[in-house]
Amino acid sequence: MSVKLLAASLTKLSFETSVPVVKDDIEVKNRSGSYKIRVGPGLLAEAGTELAKLKLGKKAAIIADESVAKLYADRLQQSLKAAGFEICLSTLAGGETSKDMSRITPLLSFLARNKVERNDTVLAFGGGVLGDLAGFVAAIYLRGVNLVHLPSTLLAMVDSSVGGKTGVNLPEGKNLAGVFHPPQLVLSDTDTLKTLQRRELTAGLAEVIKYGIIADAELFAQITDGAPADLTPVIMRCVKIKARVVEADEHETTGERALLNFGHTLGHAIERVAGYGKYLHGEAVAVGIHAATLLSQRTLGLPAEDVEAIKKTLVKNGLPLQALGLNITEIKQVLAQDKKVMDGVNRWVLSPKIGKALVTSKVKPADVDAVIEEVLTSKK
Ligand SMILES: NC(=O)c1ccc[n+]([C@@H]2O[C@H](COP(=O)([O-])OP(=O)(O)OC[C@H]3O[C@@H](n4cnc5c(N)ncnc54)[C@H](O)[C@@H]3O)[C@@H](O)[C@H]2O)c1
Ligand SMILES: [Zn+2]
Repeated sequence: MSVKLLAASLTKLSFETSVPVVKDDIEVKNRSGSYKIRVGPGLLAEAGTELAKLKLGKKAAIIADESVAKLYADRLQQSLKAAGFEICLSTLAGGETSKDMSRITPLLSFLARNKVERNDTVLAFGGGVLGDLAGFVAAIYLRGVNLVHLPSTLLAMVDSSVGGKTGVNLPEGKNLAGVFHPPQLVLSDTDTLKTLQRRELTAGLAEVIKYGIIADAELFAQITDGAPADLTPVIMRCVKIKARVVEADEHETTGERALLNFGHTLGHAIERVAGYGKYLHGEAVAVGIHAATLLSQRTLGLPAEDVEAIKKTLVKNGLPLQALGLNITEIKQVLAQDKKVMDGVNRWVLSPKIGKALVTSKVKPADVDAVIEEVLTSKK
């Protein structure tokens, strides 16, 4: 897709300033129909009735993050039981190191042992790691069973639970094995965010800032001095943006979905070179957003006040601008293998102005080198 076309399609995603918050459930249309996303407090208690409305099988196989299960599994199970579901539960540790092929076979066996059938449902309960893992398992068990996401981190609510991407990391790179498997329903109970560690919440804010930069200048303005205490409207606004992007490019074929990768080209390289788990995804993405911002200034003339606003917003939300102590040669090697490389040329998601983004390969290698230097080495 050409840069012009991408820019034009994203213009459609820009929000009218007269629409401050999204109040209703959000519907995402896809090839096989559509699914609903509900965001708000108290939704775990409604999981049973919501699942019953879908008229799927009677078995609910919960695959949960073990920390989340300790805190909230009772609440979820009570609600499912009250709605007449048979329940089985498997838990595993969250964190990036769990997103590994070795976790898949035991989870498939768990479903088989519990005689989960084609029409039954896997409930993915946890952060993005659990969602990606359990989603992948739901996609391949019996060649695909129903999936409901119950995201419990800010990052999973605004990003990973929407759009159907599932999978695991390989030693060679992040998210290199996976399939598209959209859920039947997403319930984001914002009460669960109360127990999320500050560092994890902060990491999720990197994705929120990303949405503001690529598609919603008003959302960006709402978080420049830090995020509001009630995150529900912010989450809904992010979900709405992601929903529209993935509806337009469900399987990442037209290029629009690539816009969601603003800050991720370098972010993924940082995660991998530092060793998965050292930087949280959102922390690495924050440094990547800083780099993409500087590269946008050099390449597309992103105004200096926008550059300053983005830096200030990252800092005010507790996010890093730099990642130090990494091997820059290794970072460049990883960048050369990025999924967005085509014919050996890196394509970058850049922003000409807060609220807009486009994909371009017209980036000078010297500018990339200078920006990498700036965000990965300490100032003399
Ligand atoms: N599929 C997609 O489209 C997509 C999009 C963005 C990111 N991702 C993936 O998401 C992953 C990151 O997700 P994440 O940041 O949610 O990490 P995570 O799933 O590892 O969760 C972070 C930590 O928070 C804990 N936790 C989760 N919910 C909690 C709660 N309510 N209270 C207390 N503790 C809680 C977990 O145990 C874990 O230690 C990455 O692997 C990334 O690649 C996927
Ligand atoms: Zn991300």
